Amino acid sequence: MEQQDRRRFAVILAAGDGKRMGSDRPKVLCEVLFKPMLRWVEDACRAAGIDELYIIAGDQQDLLEQAVSPGCRFFRQPERRGTGHAVMMASEAFAQGGDLLVLNGDAPFVSPQAINAAYAEHLSQGCAVTLMTAKLEDPSGYGRILRGEDGRVLAIVEQKDATPEQLQIKEVNPGAYWFRTEFLRDALPRLTCQNAQGEYYLTDTVGLASADGLRVGGCAAPDPDTALGANDRRALQQLNECARRRIIQQHLDNGVDIPFSDGIVIGPEVEIAHDAVILPGTILRGKTRIGAHAVIGPNSYLVDSQVGEGSHINASYLTDSTVGRGSSVGPFSQLRPNSHLGDGVKLGDFVEIKNSTVGDKTSVAHLTYIGDSDVGAYCNFGCGVVTANYDGNQKYRTTIGDRAFIGCNTNLVPPVTVGEGAYTAAGTTIDEDVPAGALAIGRVHQQIKEGWSDEKIAFKKDAKK
Ligand code: UD1
Ligand code: CA
Repeated sequence: MEQQDRRRFAVILAAGDGKRMGSDRPKVLCEVLFKPMLRWVEDACRAAGIDELYIIAGDQQDLLEQAVSPGCRFFRQPERRGTGHAVMMASEAFAQGGDLLVLNGDAPFVSPQAINAAYAEHLSQGCAVTLMTAKLEDPSGYGRILRGEDGRVLAIVEQKDATPEQLQIKEVNPGAYWFRTEFLRDALPRLTCQNAQGEYYLTDTVGLASADGLRVGGCAAPDPDTALGANDRRALQQLNECARRRIIQQHLDNGVDIPFSDGIVIGPEVEIAHDAVILPGTILRGKTRIGAHAVIGPNSYLVDSQVGEGSHINASYLTDSTVGRGSSVGPFSQLRPNSHLGDGVKLGDFVEIKNSTVGDKTSVAHLTYIGDSDVGAYCNFGCGVVTANYDGNQKYRTTIGDRAFIGCNTNLVPPVTVGEGAYTAAGTTIDEDVPAGALAIGRVHQQIKEGWSDEKIAFKKDAKK
């Protein structure tokens, strides 16, 4: 049958708990580059063109549901009795036949290319089951692939059941297999739990297939890292380091300048244009996009944010925000969600922006909070301006027109509008609209009391004697 005619669906094994991780959440929710391992596996399936997805959940299924996209369906495994038992929970999905991809939910680097290469072999060889395999320098912890003299896969033996000779084998089972559903329906009921762990091993189906004289495919992955799984935090850290290194290398190949990789973590979905510079201590997460020639860092943290061409973000935090071209932020500033800076904006130190827009070429140089505001272009903010956007009950917006000049230590009490080109005097509290072009001064006039302290000084001098 042609590849496109056959039903292809996937079951992801995710019922394991987080005990070996020391976590109170399911293990597959442990994150690699800020993305749950389960989500990596789901994304690989979708990238391979497989959209009928079933997930085997243990406790806390609700948490798994939040981590994957809405189209996934779930089967519950009430008791954790092994990977073979986990697949049995999905048997309802086998009824329509076709080819079933089973993936461990704790091996995030399975690649769409490897999935499809194994599928092509699975079909062309007419296999009952086709494994993806990998050769690891250090195979400890993994099931080992047993091959016959002719090179055919005979079985998988788990580390805990292996003989000393079998432990020498470096070809391992990454936990990714294609099955013909007809074969699996027949093989699953024949599994037993007579093994070192007292579990129903999915891996035993491989031995059953070859004993039945059915074909077993074994497709070695070109990149052995794609086999890596994590059972504990040490392995999880290795996966993180491995993914981190790989992603940094991809960006280097794309012309991004990363002169030192210290403390740099870049998420899998981040896009960075050529000639951007990423400096140490910078973490870029989510759907962050960085324009060409931008400089990010040192010590910056960006989540789901966009930075335009040639802008500079120095020691600052950005969440869900955008910065135009040729702007600079920091050091030590923060853009909280839904903040949008135009082009050529200058934000200096200790500036916080939240849910606001700031127009082109506006300068907010020091110690300022702008919340729930719409600020025009070419404005200048003196040091220490504060929008008092919250009255303890509701939030209100401040509007500032183009070319306005907001003096040092101005408090803006919204809802309020400062018109185009208007000035506020230093130390003013603005709680009424300021018309365009006006100057607003709202402060107690300075008084001079001549000789006011002379008496006190005389008194202090007397006391010292
Ligand atoms: C498994 C394989 C091993 C392989 C390794 C790759 C078996 C018997 N062994 O071992 O050959 O080299 O993965 O990483 O399959 N799970 C359930 N229900 C269960 C048990 C496990 O859903 O009852 C899920 C886990 O959440 C996990 C996956 O199945 O995502 C693998 O289980 P795990 O216990 O980690 O298997 P390994 O011992 O690593
Ligand atoms: Ca595992």
